[in-house]
Amino acid sequence: MAILPIHLLGSAVLRETAQPVEAFDDELRQFIADLYETMDTALGVGLAANQVGVARRVAVIDADDQRFAMINPRVVESGGATTSAEEGCLSIPDAFAEVSRPERIVLEAQDEHGKPFRLELGGLVARAVQHEIDHLDGVLFIDHLSTLKRQLLVARWKKDHKGQGPTWIPSPEESEATS
Ligand code: NI
Repeated sequence: MAILPIHLLGSAVLRETAQPVEAFDDELRQFIADLYETMDTALGVGLAANQVGVARRVAVIDADDQRFAMINPRVVESGGATTSAEEGCLSIPDAFAEVSRPERIVLEAQDEHGKPFRLELGGLVARAVQHEIDHLDGVLFIDHLSTLKRQLLVARWKKDHKGQGPTWIPSPEESEATS
């Protein structure tokens, strides 16, 4: 396994639409193992392939005692109240904002062997899944904010992270719980 460099805001791959996975092979399963190790080291609740520079429809989740890889994931139903909660992102470290999303979703995806599965989810794990699927569509949590809030957040983040390269590598000592 390997810890992969995480791309930061400004990296073009974060804005790419990830391509569907067709081959469920050892190479895919190795990649998923690396995603898990990277997410765990960064103490994230989710990590999408785009965030490690790979525009393929793969993400891993670890939230509310639910831990799974989702390949070619889709939200097929959403409902319940629209709730607002603070989100962050491993690609925009140290930035947080309230984001509104449906509280309950039905997820359909494939596992690392290509087997389809369906999950009814709510709360934090439903939020994490929506956040990661957004990544696969080139969407970041800041895109859900008003233009003014987004511009302020991005300006502050760029100032604080001036001179930082296009990626960072999580280490066990210096991490914070975000997705
Ligand atoms: Ni994120």
